[in-house]
Amino acid sequence: MPNRSHHNARHIAMNLLRKRGLKHSSASVAIAASTAPTMHILVVADCLKILRGLPSESIQLAICDPPYNISVASWDDRAHYVEWAGQWLSEVERVLAPSGNLVIFGGLQYQGEGGSGDLVSLIGWMRAHSKMRLANLIIWNYPNGLSAHRFFANRHEEIAWFAKSPKYYFDLDAVRTKLDALRLARYKRDKRLNPDNLDKGINPTNVWRIPRLNGNSRERVGHPTQKPKRLIERLVRALSYPESTVLDCFAGSGVTSRVAIETRRHSISIDTDAMFPAYFRRHLDQIDGGGLLPKDYVLIESDDWSAHPVFRTVPEASGAGALPR
Ligand SMILES: C[S@@+](CC[C@H](N)C(=O)[O-])C[C@H]1O[C@@H](n2cnc3c(N)ncnc32)[C@H](O)[C@@H]1O
Repeated sequence: MPNRSHHNARHIAMNLLRKRGLKHSSASVAIAASTAPTMHILVVADCLKILRGLPSESIQLAICDPPYNISVASWDDRAHYVEWAGQWLSEVERVLAPSGNLVIFGGLQYQGEGGSGDLVSLIGWMRAHSKMRLANLIIWNYPNGLSAHRFFANRHEEIAWFAKSPKYYFDLDAVRTKLDALRLARYKRDKRLNPDNLDKGINPTNVWRIPRLNGNSRERVGHPTQKPKRLIERLVRALSYPESTVLDCFAGSGVTSRVAIETRRHSISIDTDAMFPAYFRRHLDQIDGGGLLPKDYVLIESDDWSAHPVFRTVPEASGAGALPR
């Protein structure tokens, strides 16, 4: 079986650009970073309501870790899952910048309880109703999980990454996996591999082995389905650039805003759960303990959102910068 990437026109074009020392046009969207504080809106609300008030093309990365529809919690059961998801997926596509990316978390394993839809249904909906392109299906493989006796114990979840246009932003260098000295020396003997890239690290591939948070993990802030910071950070670093805005429609614990603060992105995080601000405060305690100062970021806690860059870029938009009622 030949390696298909050797015959892939896009792959060949990217190699040519690299040989000529040029960058893909998508790299031009990343602006020089300043030292101004990053802005963060955290709101307890239905994501659809907030999405409808966001300006078009204002978001670089949308992270959607929606209810799985398998009754793991009170919020996790939807009679018309796909129809409901179609509404926020359409809005997410509208608010994404041309360089923008969307990631949808979900699982493919259900045993009857996910009857009205799961991630497969959402990918099907995207294929039928959206112009976005599936860039990768990322397999999040974790070593820890529940045991099973009537089937193989599940050790993965999926993350579907969709790009808004061919100019989507992707910074592979930001997330390369460093090679240890032994592997580096071995790989460098392989003449097919680019030695400069090997020094930077290798492509982490679309299978990511990252442990789930254990019950007693220090990172835990109380949300039942909190995702590991390392997982969110890889997405944020690869699919957004400093001082762009990351949106999380189903923020849960607020881990995305935490990562945005730590990596100098702006953020908007939304969740219906009244506990959301309390979970997020616990994240903040961990950040502040880690050396970041409160002056490096601003939490926009009032209903006036006009200071957030998403609203500053389109001052003419009607009602821009106000919490939708
Ligand atoms: C799978 S959890 C997200 C966990 C999150 N990614 C984290 O790592 O902490 C799904 C979240 O969606 C929230 N949710 C459910 N329906 C919602 C809606 N219509 N709008 C916003 N949030 C919603 C739930 O309260 C829950 O916290």
